[in-house]
Amino acid sequence: MGDGTSETKSSNQMWGGRFAQGPAAIMEEINASIGFDKKLFAQDIRGSIAHATMLAHQGIISPEDKDKIVHGLSTILSEIESGNFEFSRRLEDIHMNVEARLATLIGPAAGRLHTARSRNDQVALDFRLWVKEELQKTEKMLTALIAAFLDRAEEHAETVMPGFTHLQTAQPVTFGHHCMAYVEMFGRDRSRVRHAIEHMDESPIGAAALAGTGFPIDRHMTAKALGFREPTRNSIDTVSDRDFALEFLSIASICAVHLSRLAEEIVIWSTPQFGFVRLSDAFSTGSSIMPQKKNPDAAELVRAKTGRINGSLIALLTVMKGLPLAYSKDMQEDKEQVFDSAESLELAIAAMTGMVRDMTIRVDRMKAAAGSGYSTATDLADWLVREAGLPFRDAHHVTGRAVALAEQKACELAELSLEDLQAIHADITDKVFDVLTVEASVASRTSFGGTAPSEVRKQIAWWRGRN
Ligand code: ARG
Repeated sequence: MGDGTSETKSSNQMWGGRFAQGPAAIMEEINASIGFDKKLFAQDIRGSIAHATMLAHQGIISPEDKDKIVHGLSTILSEIESGNFEFSRRLEDIHMNVEARLATLIGPAAGRLHTARSRNDQVALDFRLWVKEELQKTEKMLTALIAAFLDRAEEHAETVMPGFTHLQTAQPVTFGHHCMAYVEMFGRDRSRVRHAIEHMDESPIGAAALAGTGFPIDRHMTAKALGFREPTRNSIDTVSDRDFALEFLSIASICAVHLSRLAEEIVIWSTPQFGFVRLSDAFSTGSSIMPQKKNPDAAELVRAKTGRINGSLIALLTVMKGLPLAYSKDMQEDKEQVFDSAESLELAIAAMTGMVRDMTIRVDRMKAAAGSGYSTATDLADWLVREAGLPFRDAHHVTGRAVALAEQKACELAELSLEDLQAIHADITDKVFDVLTVEASVASRTSFGGTAPSEVRKQIAWWRGRN
C-alpha cells in the first residue's frame, strides 16, 4: 500500500476548485490522516451506502445512480479487505480515498454521493460507529473477565488470606471475597460501557458541514439503517462533539486503573516473600542471567499500559478544551488516541483474564499468612464487647495489651494461655479461643457484603444472574 508521497502535486480533486496549486509537501504531511483513519474504511463505506440509499429514497438522486454508487462501494470494500487498494496520502483521509476510487470505478455518478453531506458529519459518523463497536467488544471481554473471577471466587469461597490496609495485615478475609472485589470493579466498568453505548447511540449523518441541509433528507432513515436509536438533535453539536471518544477514553482509563491494581497485586503475590500465587508459565518469563527467576512480565505490562491509556485521555481532553464550535481540524487528532487505547485495553483485559484463570492459588501460604500479624485482634475486641459487656474503646485497649504480651512472648494471640489473658482482663473465658482462629474470624463476618463464605456465595449467585 503506497502512501502517495511520490505522487505528482496538483490541486485536490475534492475541494481543489479554488486552489491553483497543490499543497506544500509539509502541508500534505501534517494534514493527511489516511495513515491511521484507514481503520475506518468499513464504517465509512457502510455510512455512504446508507446515505446514498436514503438520497434515492427521497428522490434526491436517481435509483440508477444509487445502484452504481452502492455497487462501487461494495467493490471498494472487498478491494480494501483483500489488500488490493492503494491508499493515497495526497487524498488526505479515508473519506476522500474512497470517494476518489468510486469516481474511477463508476464515473460521474460518484460525485452525487456527497450531496447533503460533509466530511464533518461523515467523520463524526464513521468514528462513532467504530467506537460503539469497540465498546460492544469491550463489554464482552469484561464479561469474560468477570466470569473468570466468579469461578475463582467460587472455588476459593473458604480460602483464608490476610486482608490488608496500608499493605499491613488487617483482618483475615477469604480469597473468594477478594476476587469478588474485582468483580464489583469490572462490573462497574461494564455498566459504564453500557451507558456510554446508550449515550452515543445517535446518528450524526445529515448534520452536513454544521448547519444541516436544504435537501429533503430523512435522518431517521439513515439512523435506523446504521443501527442507531435516533438521529442527533443539533447539527452544530453533532460536528463539534467528541464526547463519545472522551467517554471511551475515560472508561478505558478507569478500567485500566483497575487492571493495573490487579496487576500490582499479582506482582506482589507472586514474589517468593508473599508466595500467595504461582503464575502459569504461559504468563511469565524467565531471566537470561538468573535461572531461579520467574517474572510476572504480563502483569507488569498491563500495569504500564495504563500509562498510555491515561495519557490518551489527557491528550484528547486537551485537544478539545479550547475549540470553538463547530468542527476544527484539531479534532482529527482524536483517532490515534482512541485506536491506541483500544488496542492496549483489549490486550490488558485479555492478558488479565488468562492470568486469573491460570494462576495457582497457594492455599497453604495464604492461610499461614492470614493467621500471622495478630489479624484476629479485632475479633478479640468484639468478643469482649459481646460476651463481657465492655464498651468497644475499653475492649480495644484490653486487646492492645494482649497483642503487646503476645509480641513479647513471640507468639500468636491464640497461643497465649487463658491465665495470661485473664491477667489482662478477668472476664475472659476459654470460649474466647473459638473466635481467635482465622476460620472463625471470617465465618463470623456475615454482614451484607462481608467476607464470610456464606455471604460471598450469595454475592457470587447474585452476579451469576446478571451477565
Ligand atoms: N480527516 C478529517 C478528520 O478526521 C475529516 C474531516 C475533515 N473536515 C474538514 N472540514 N476538513 O477530522
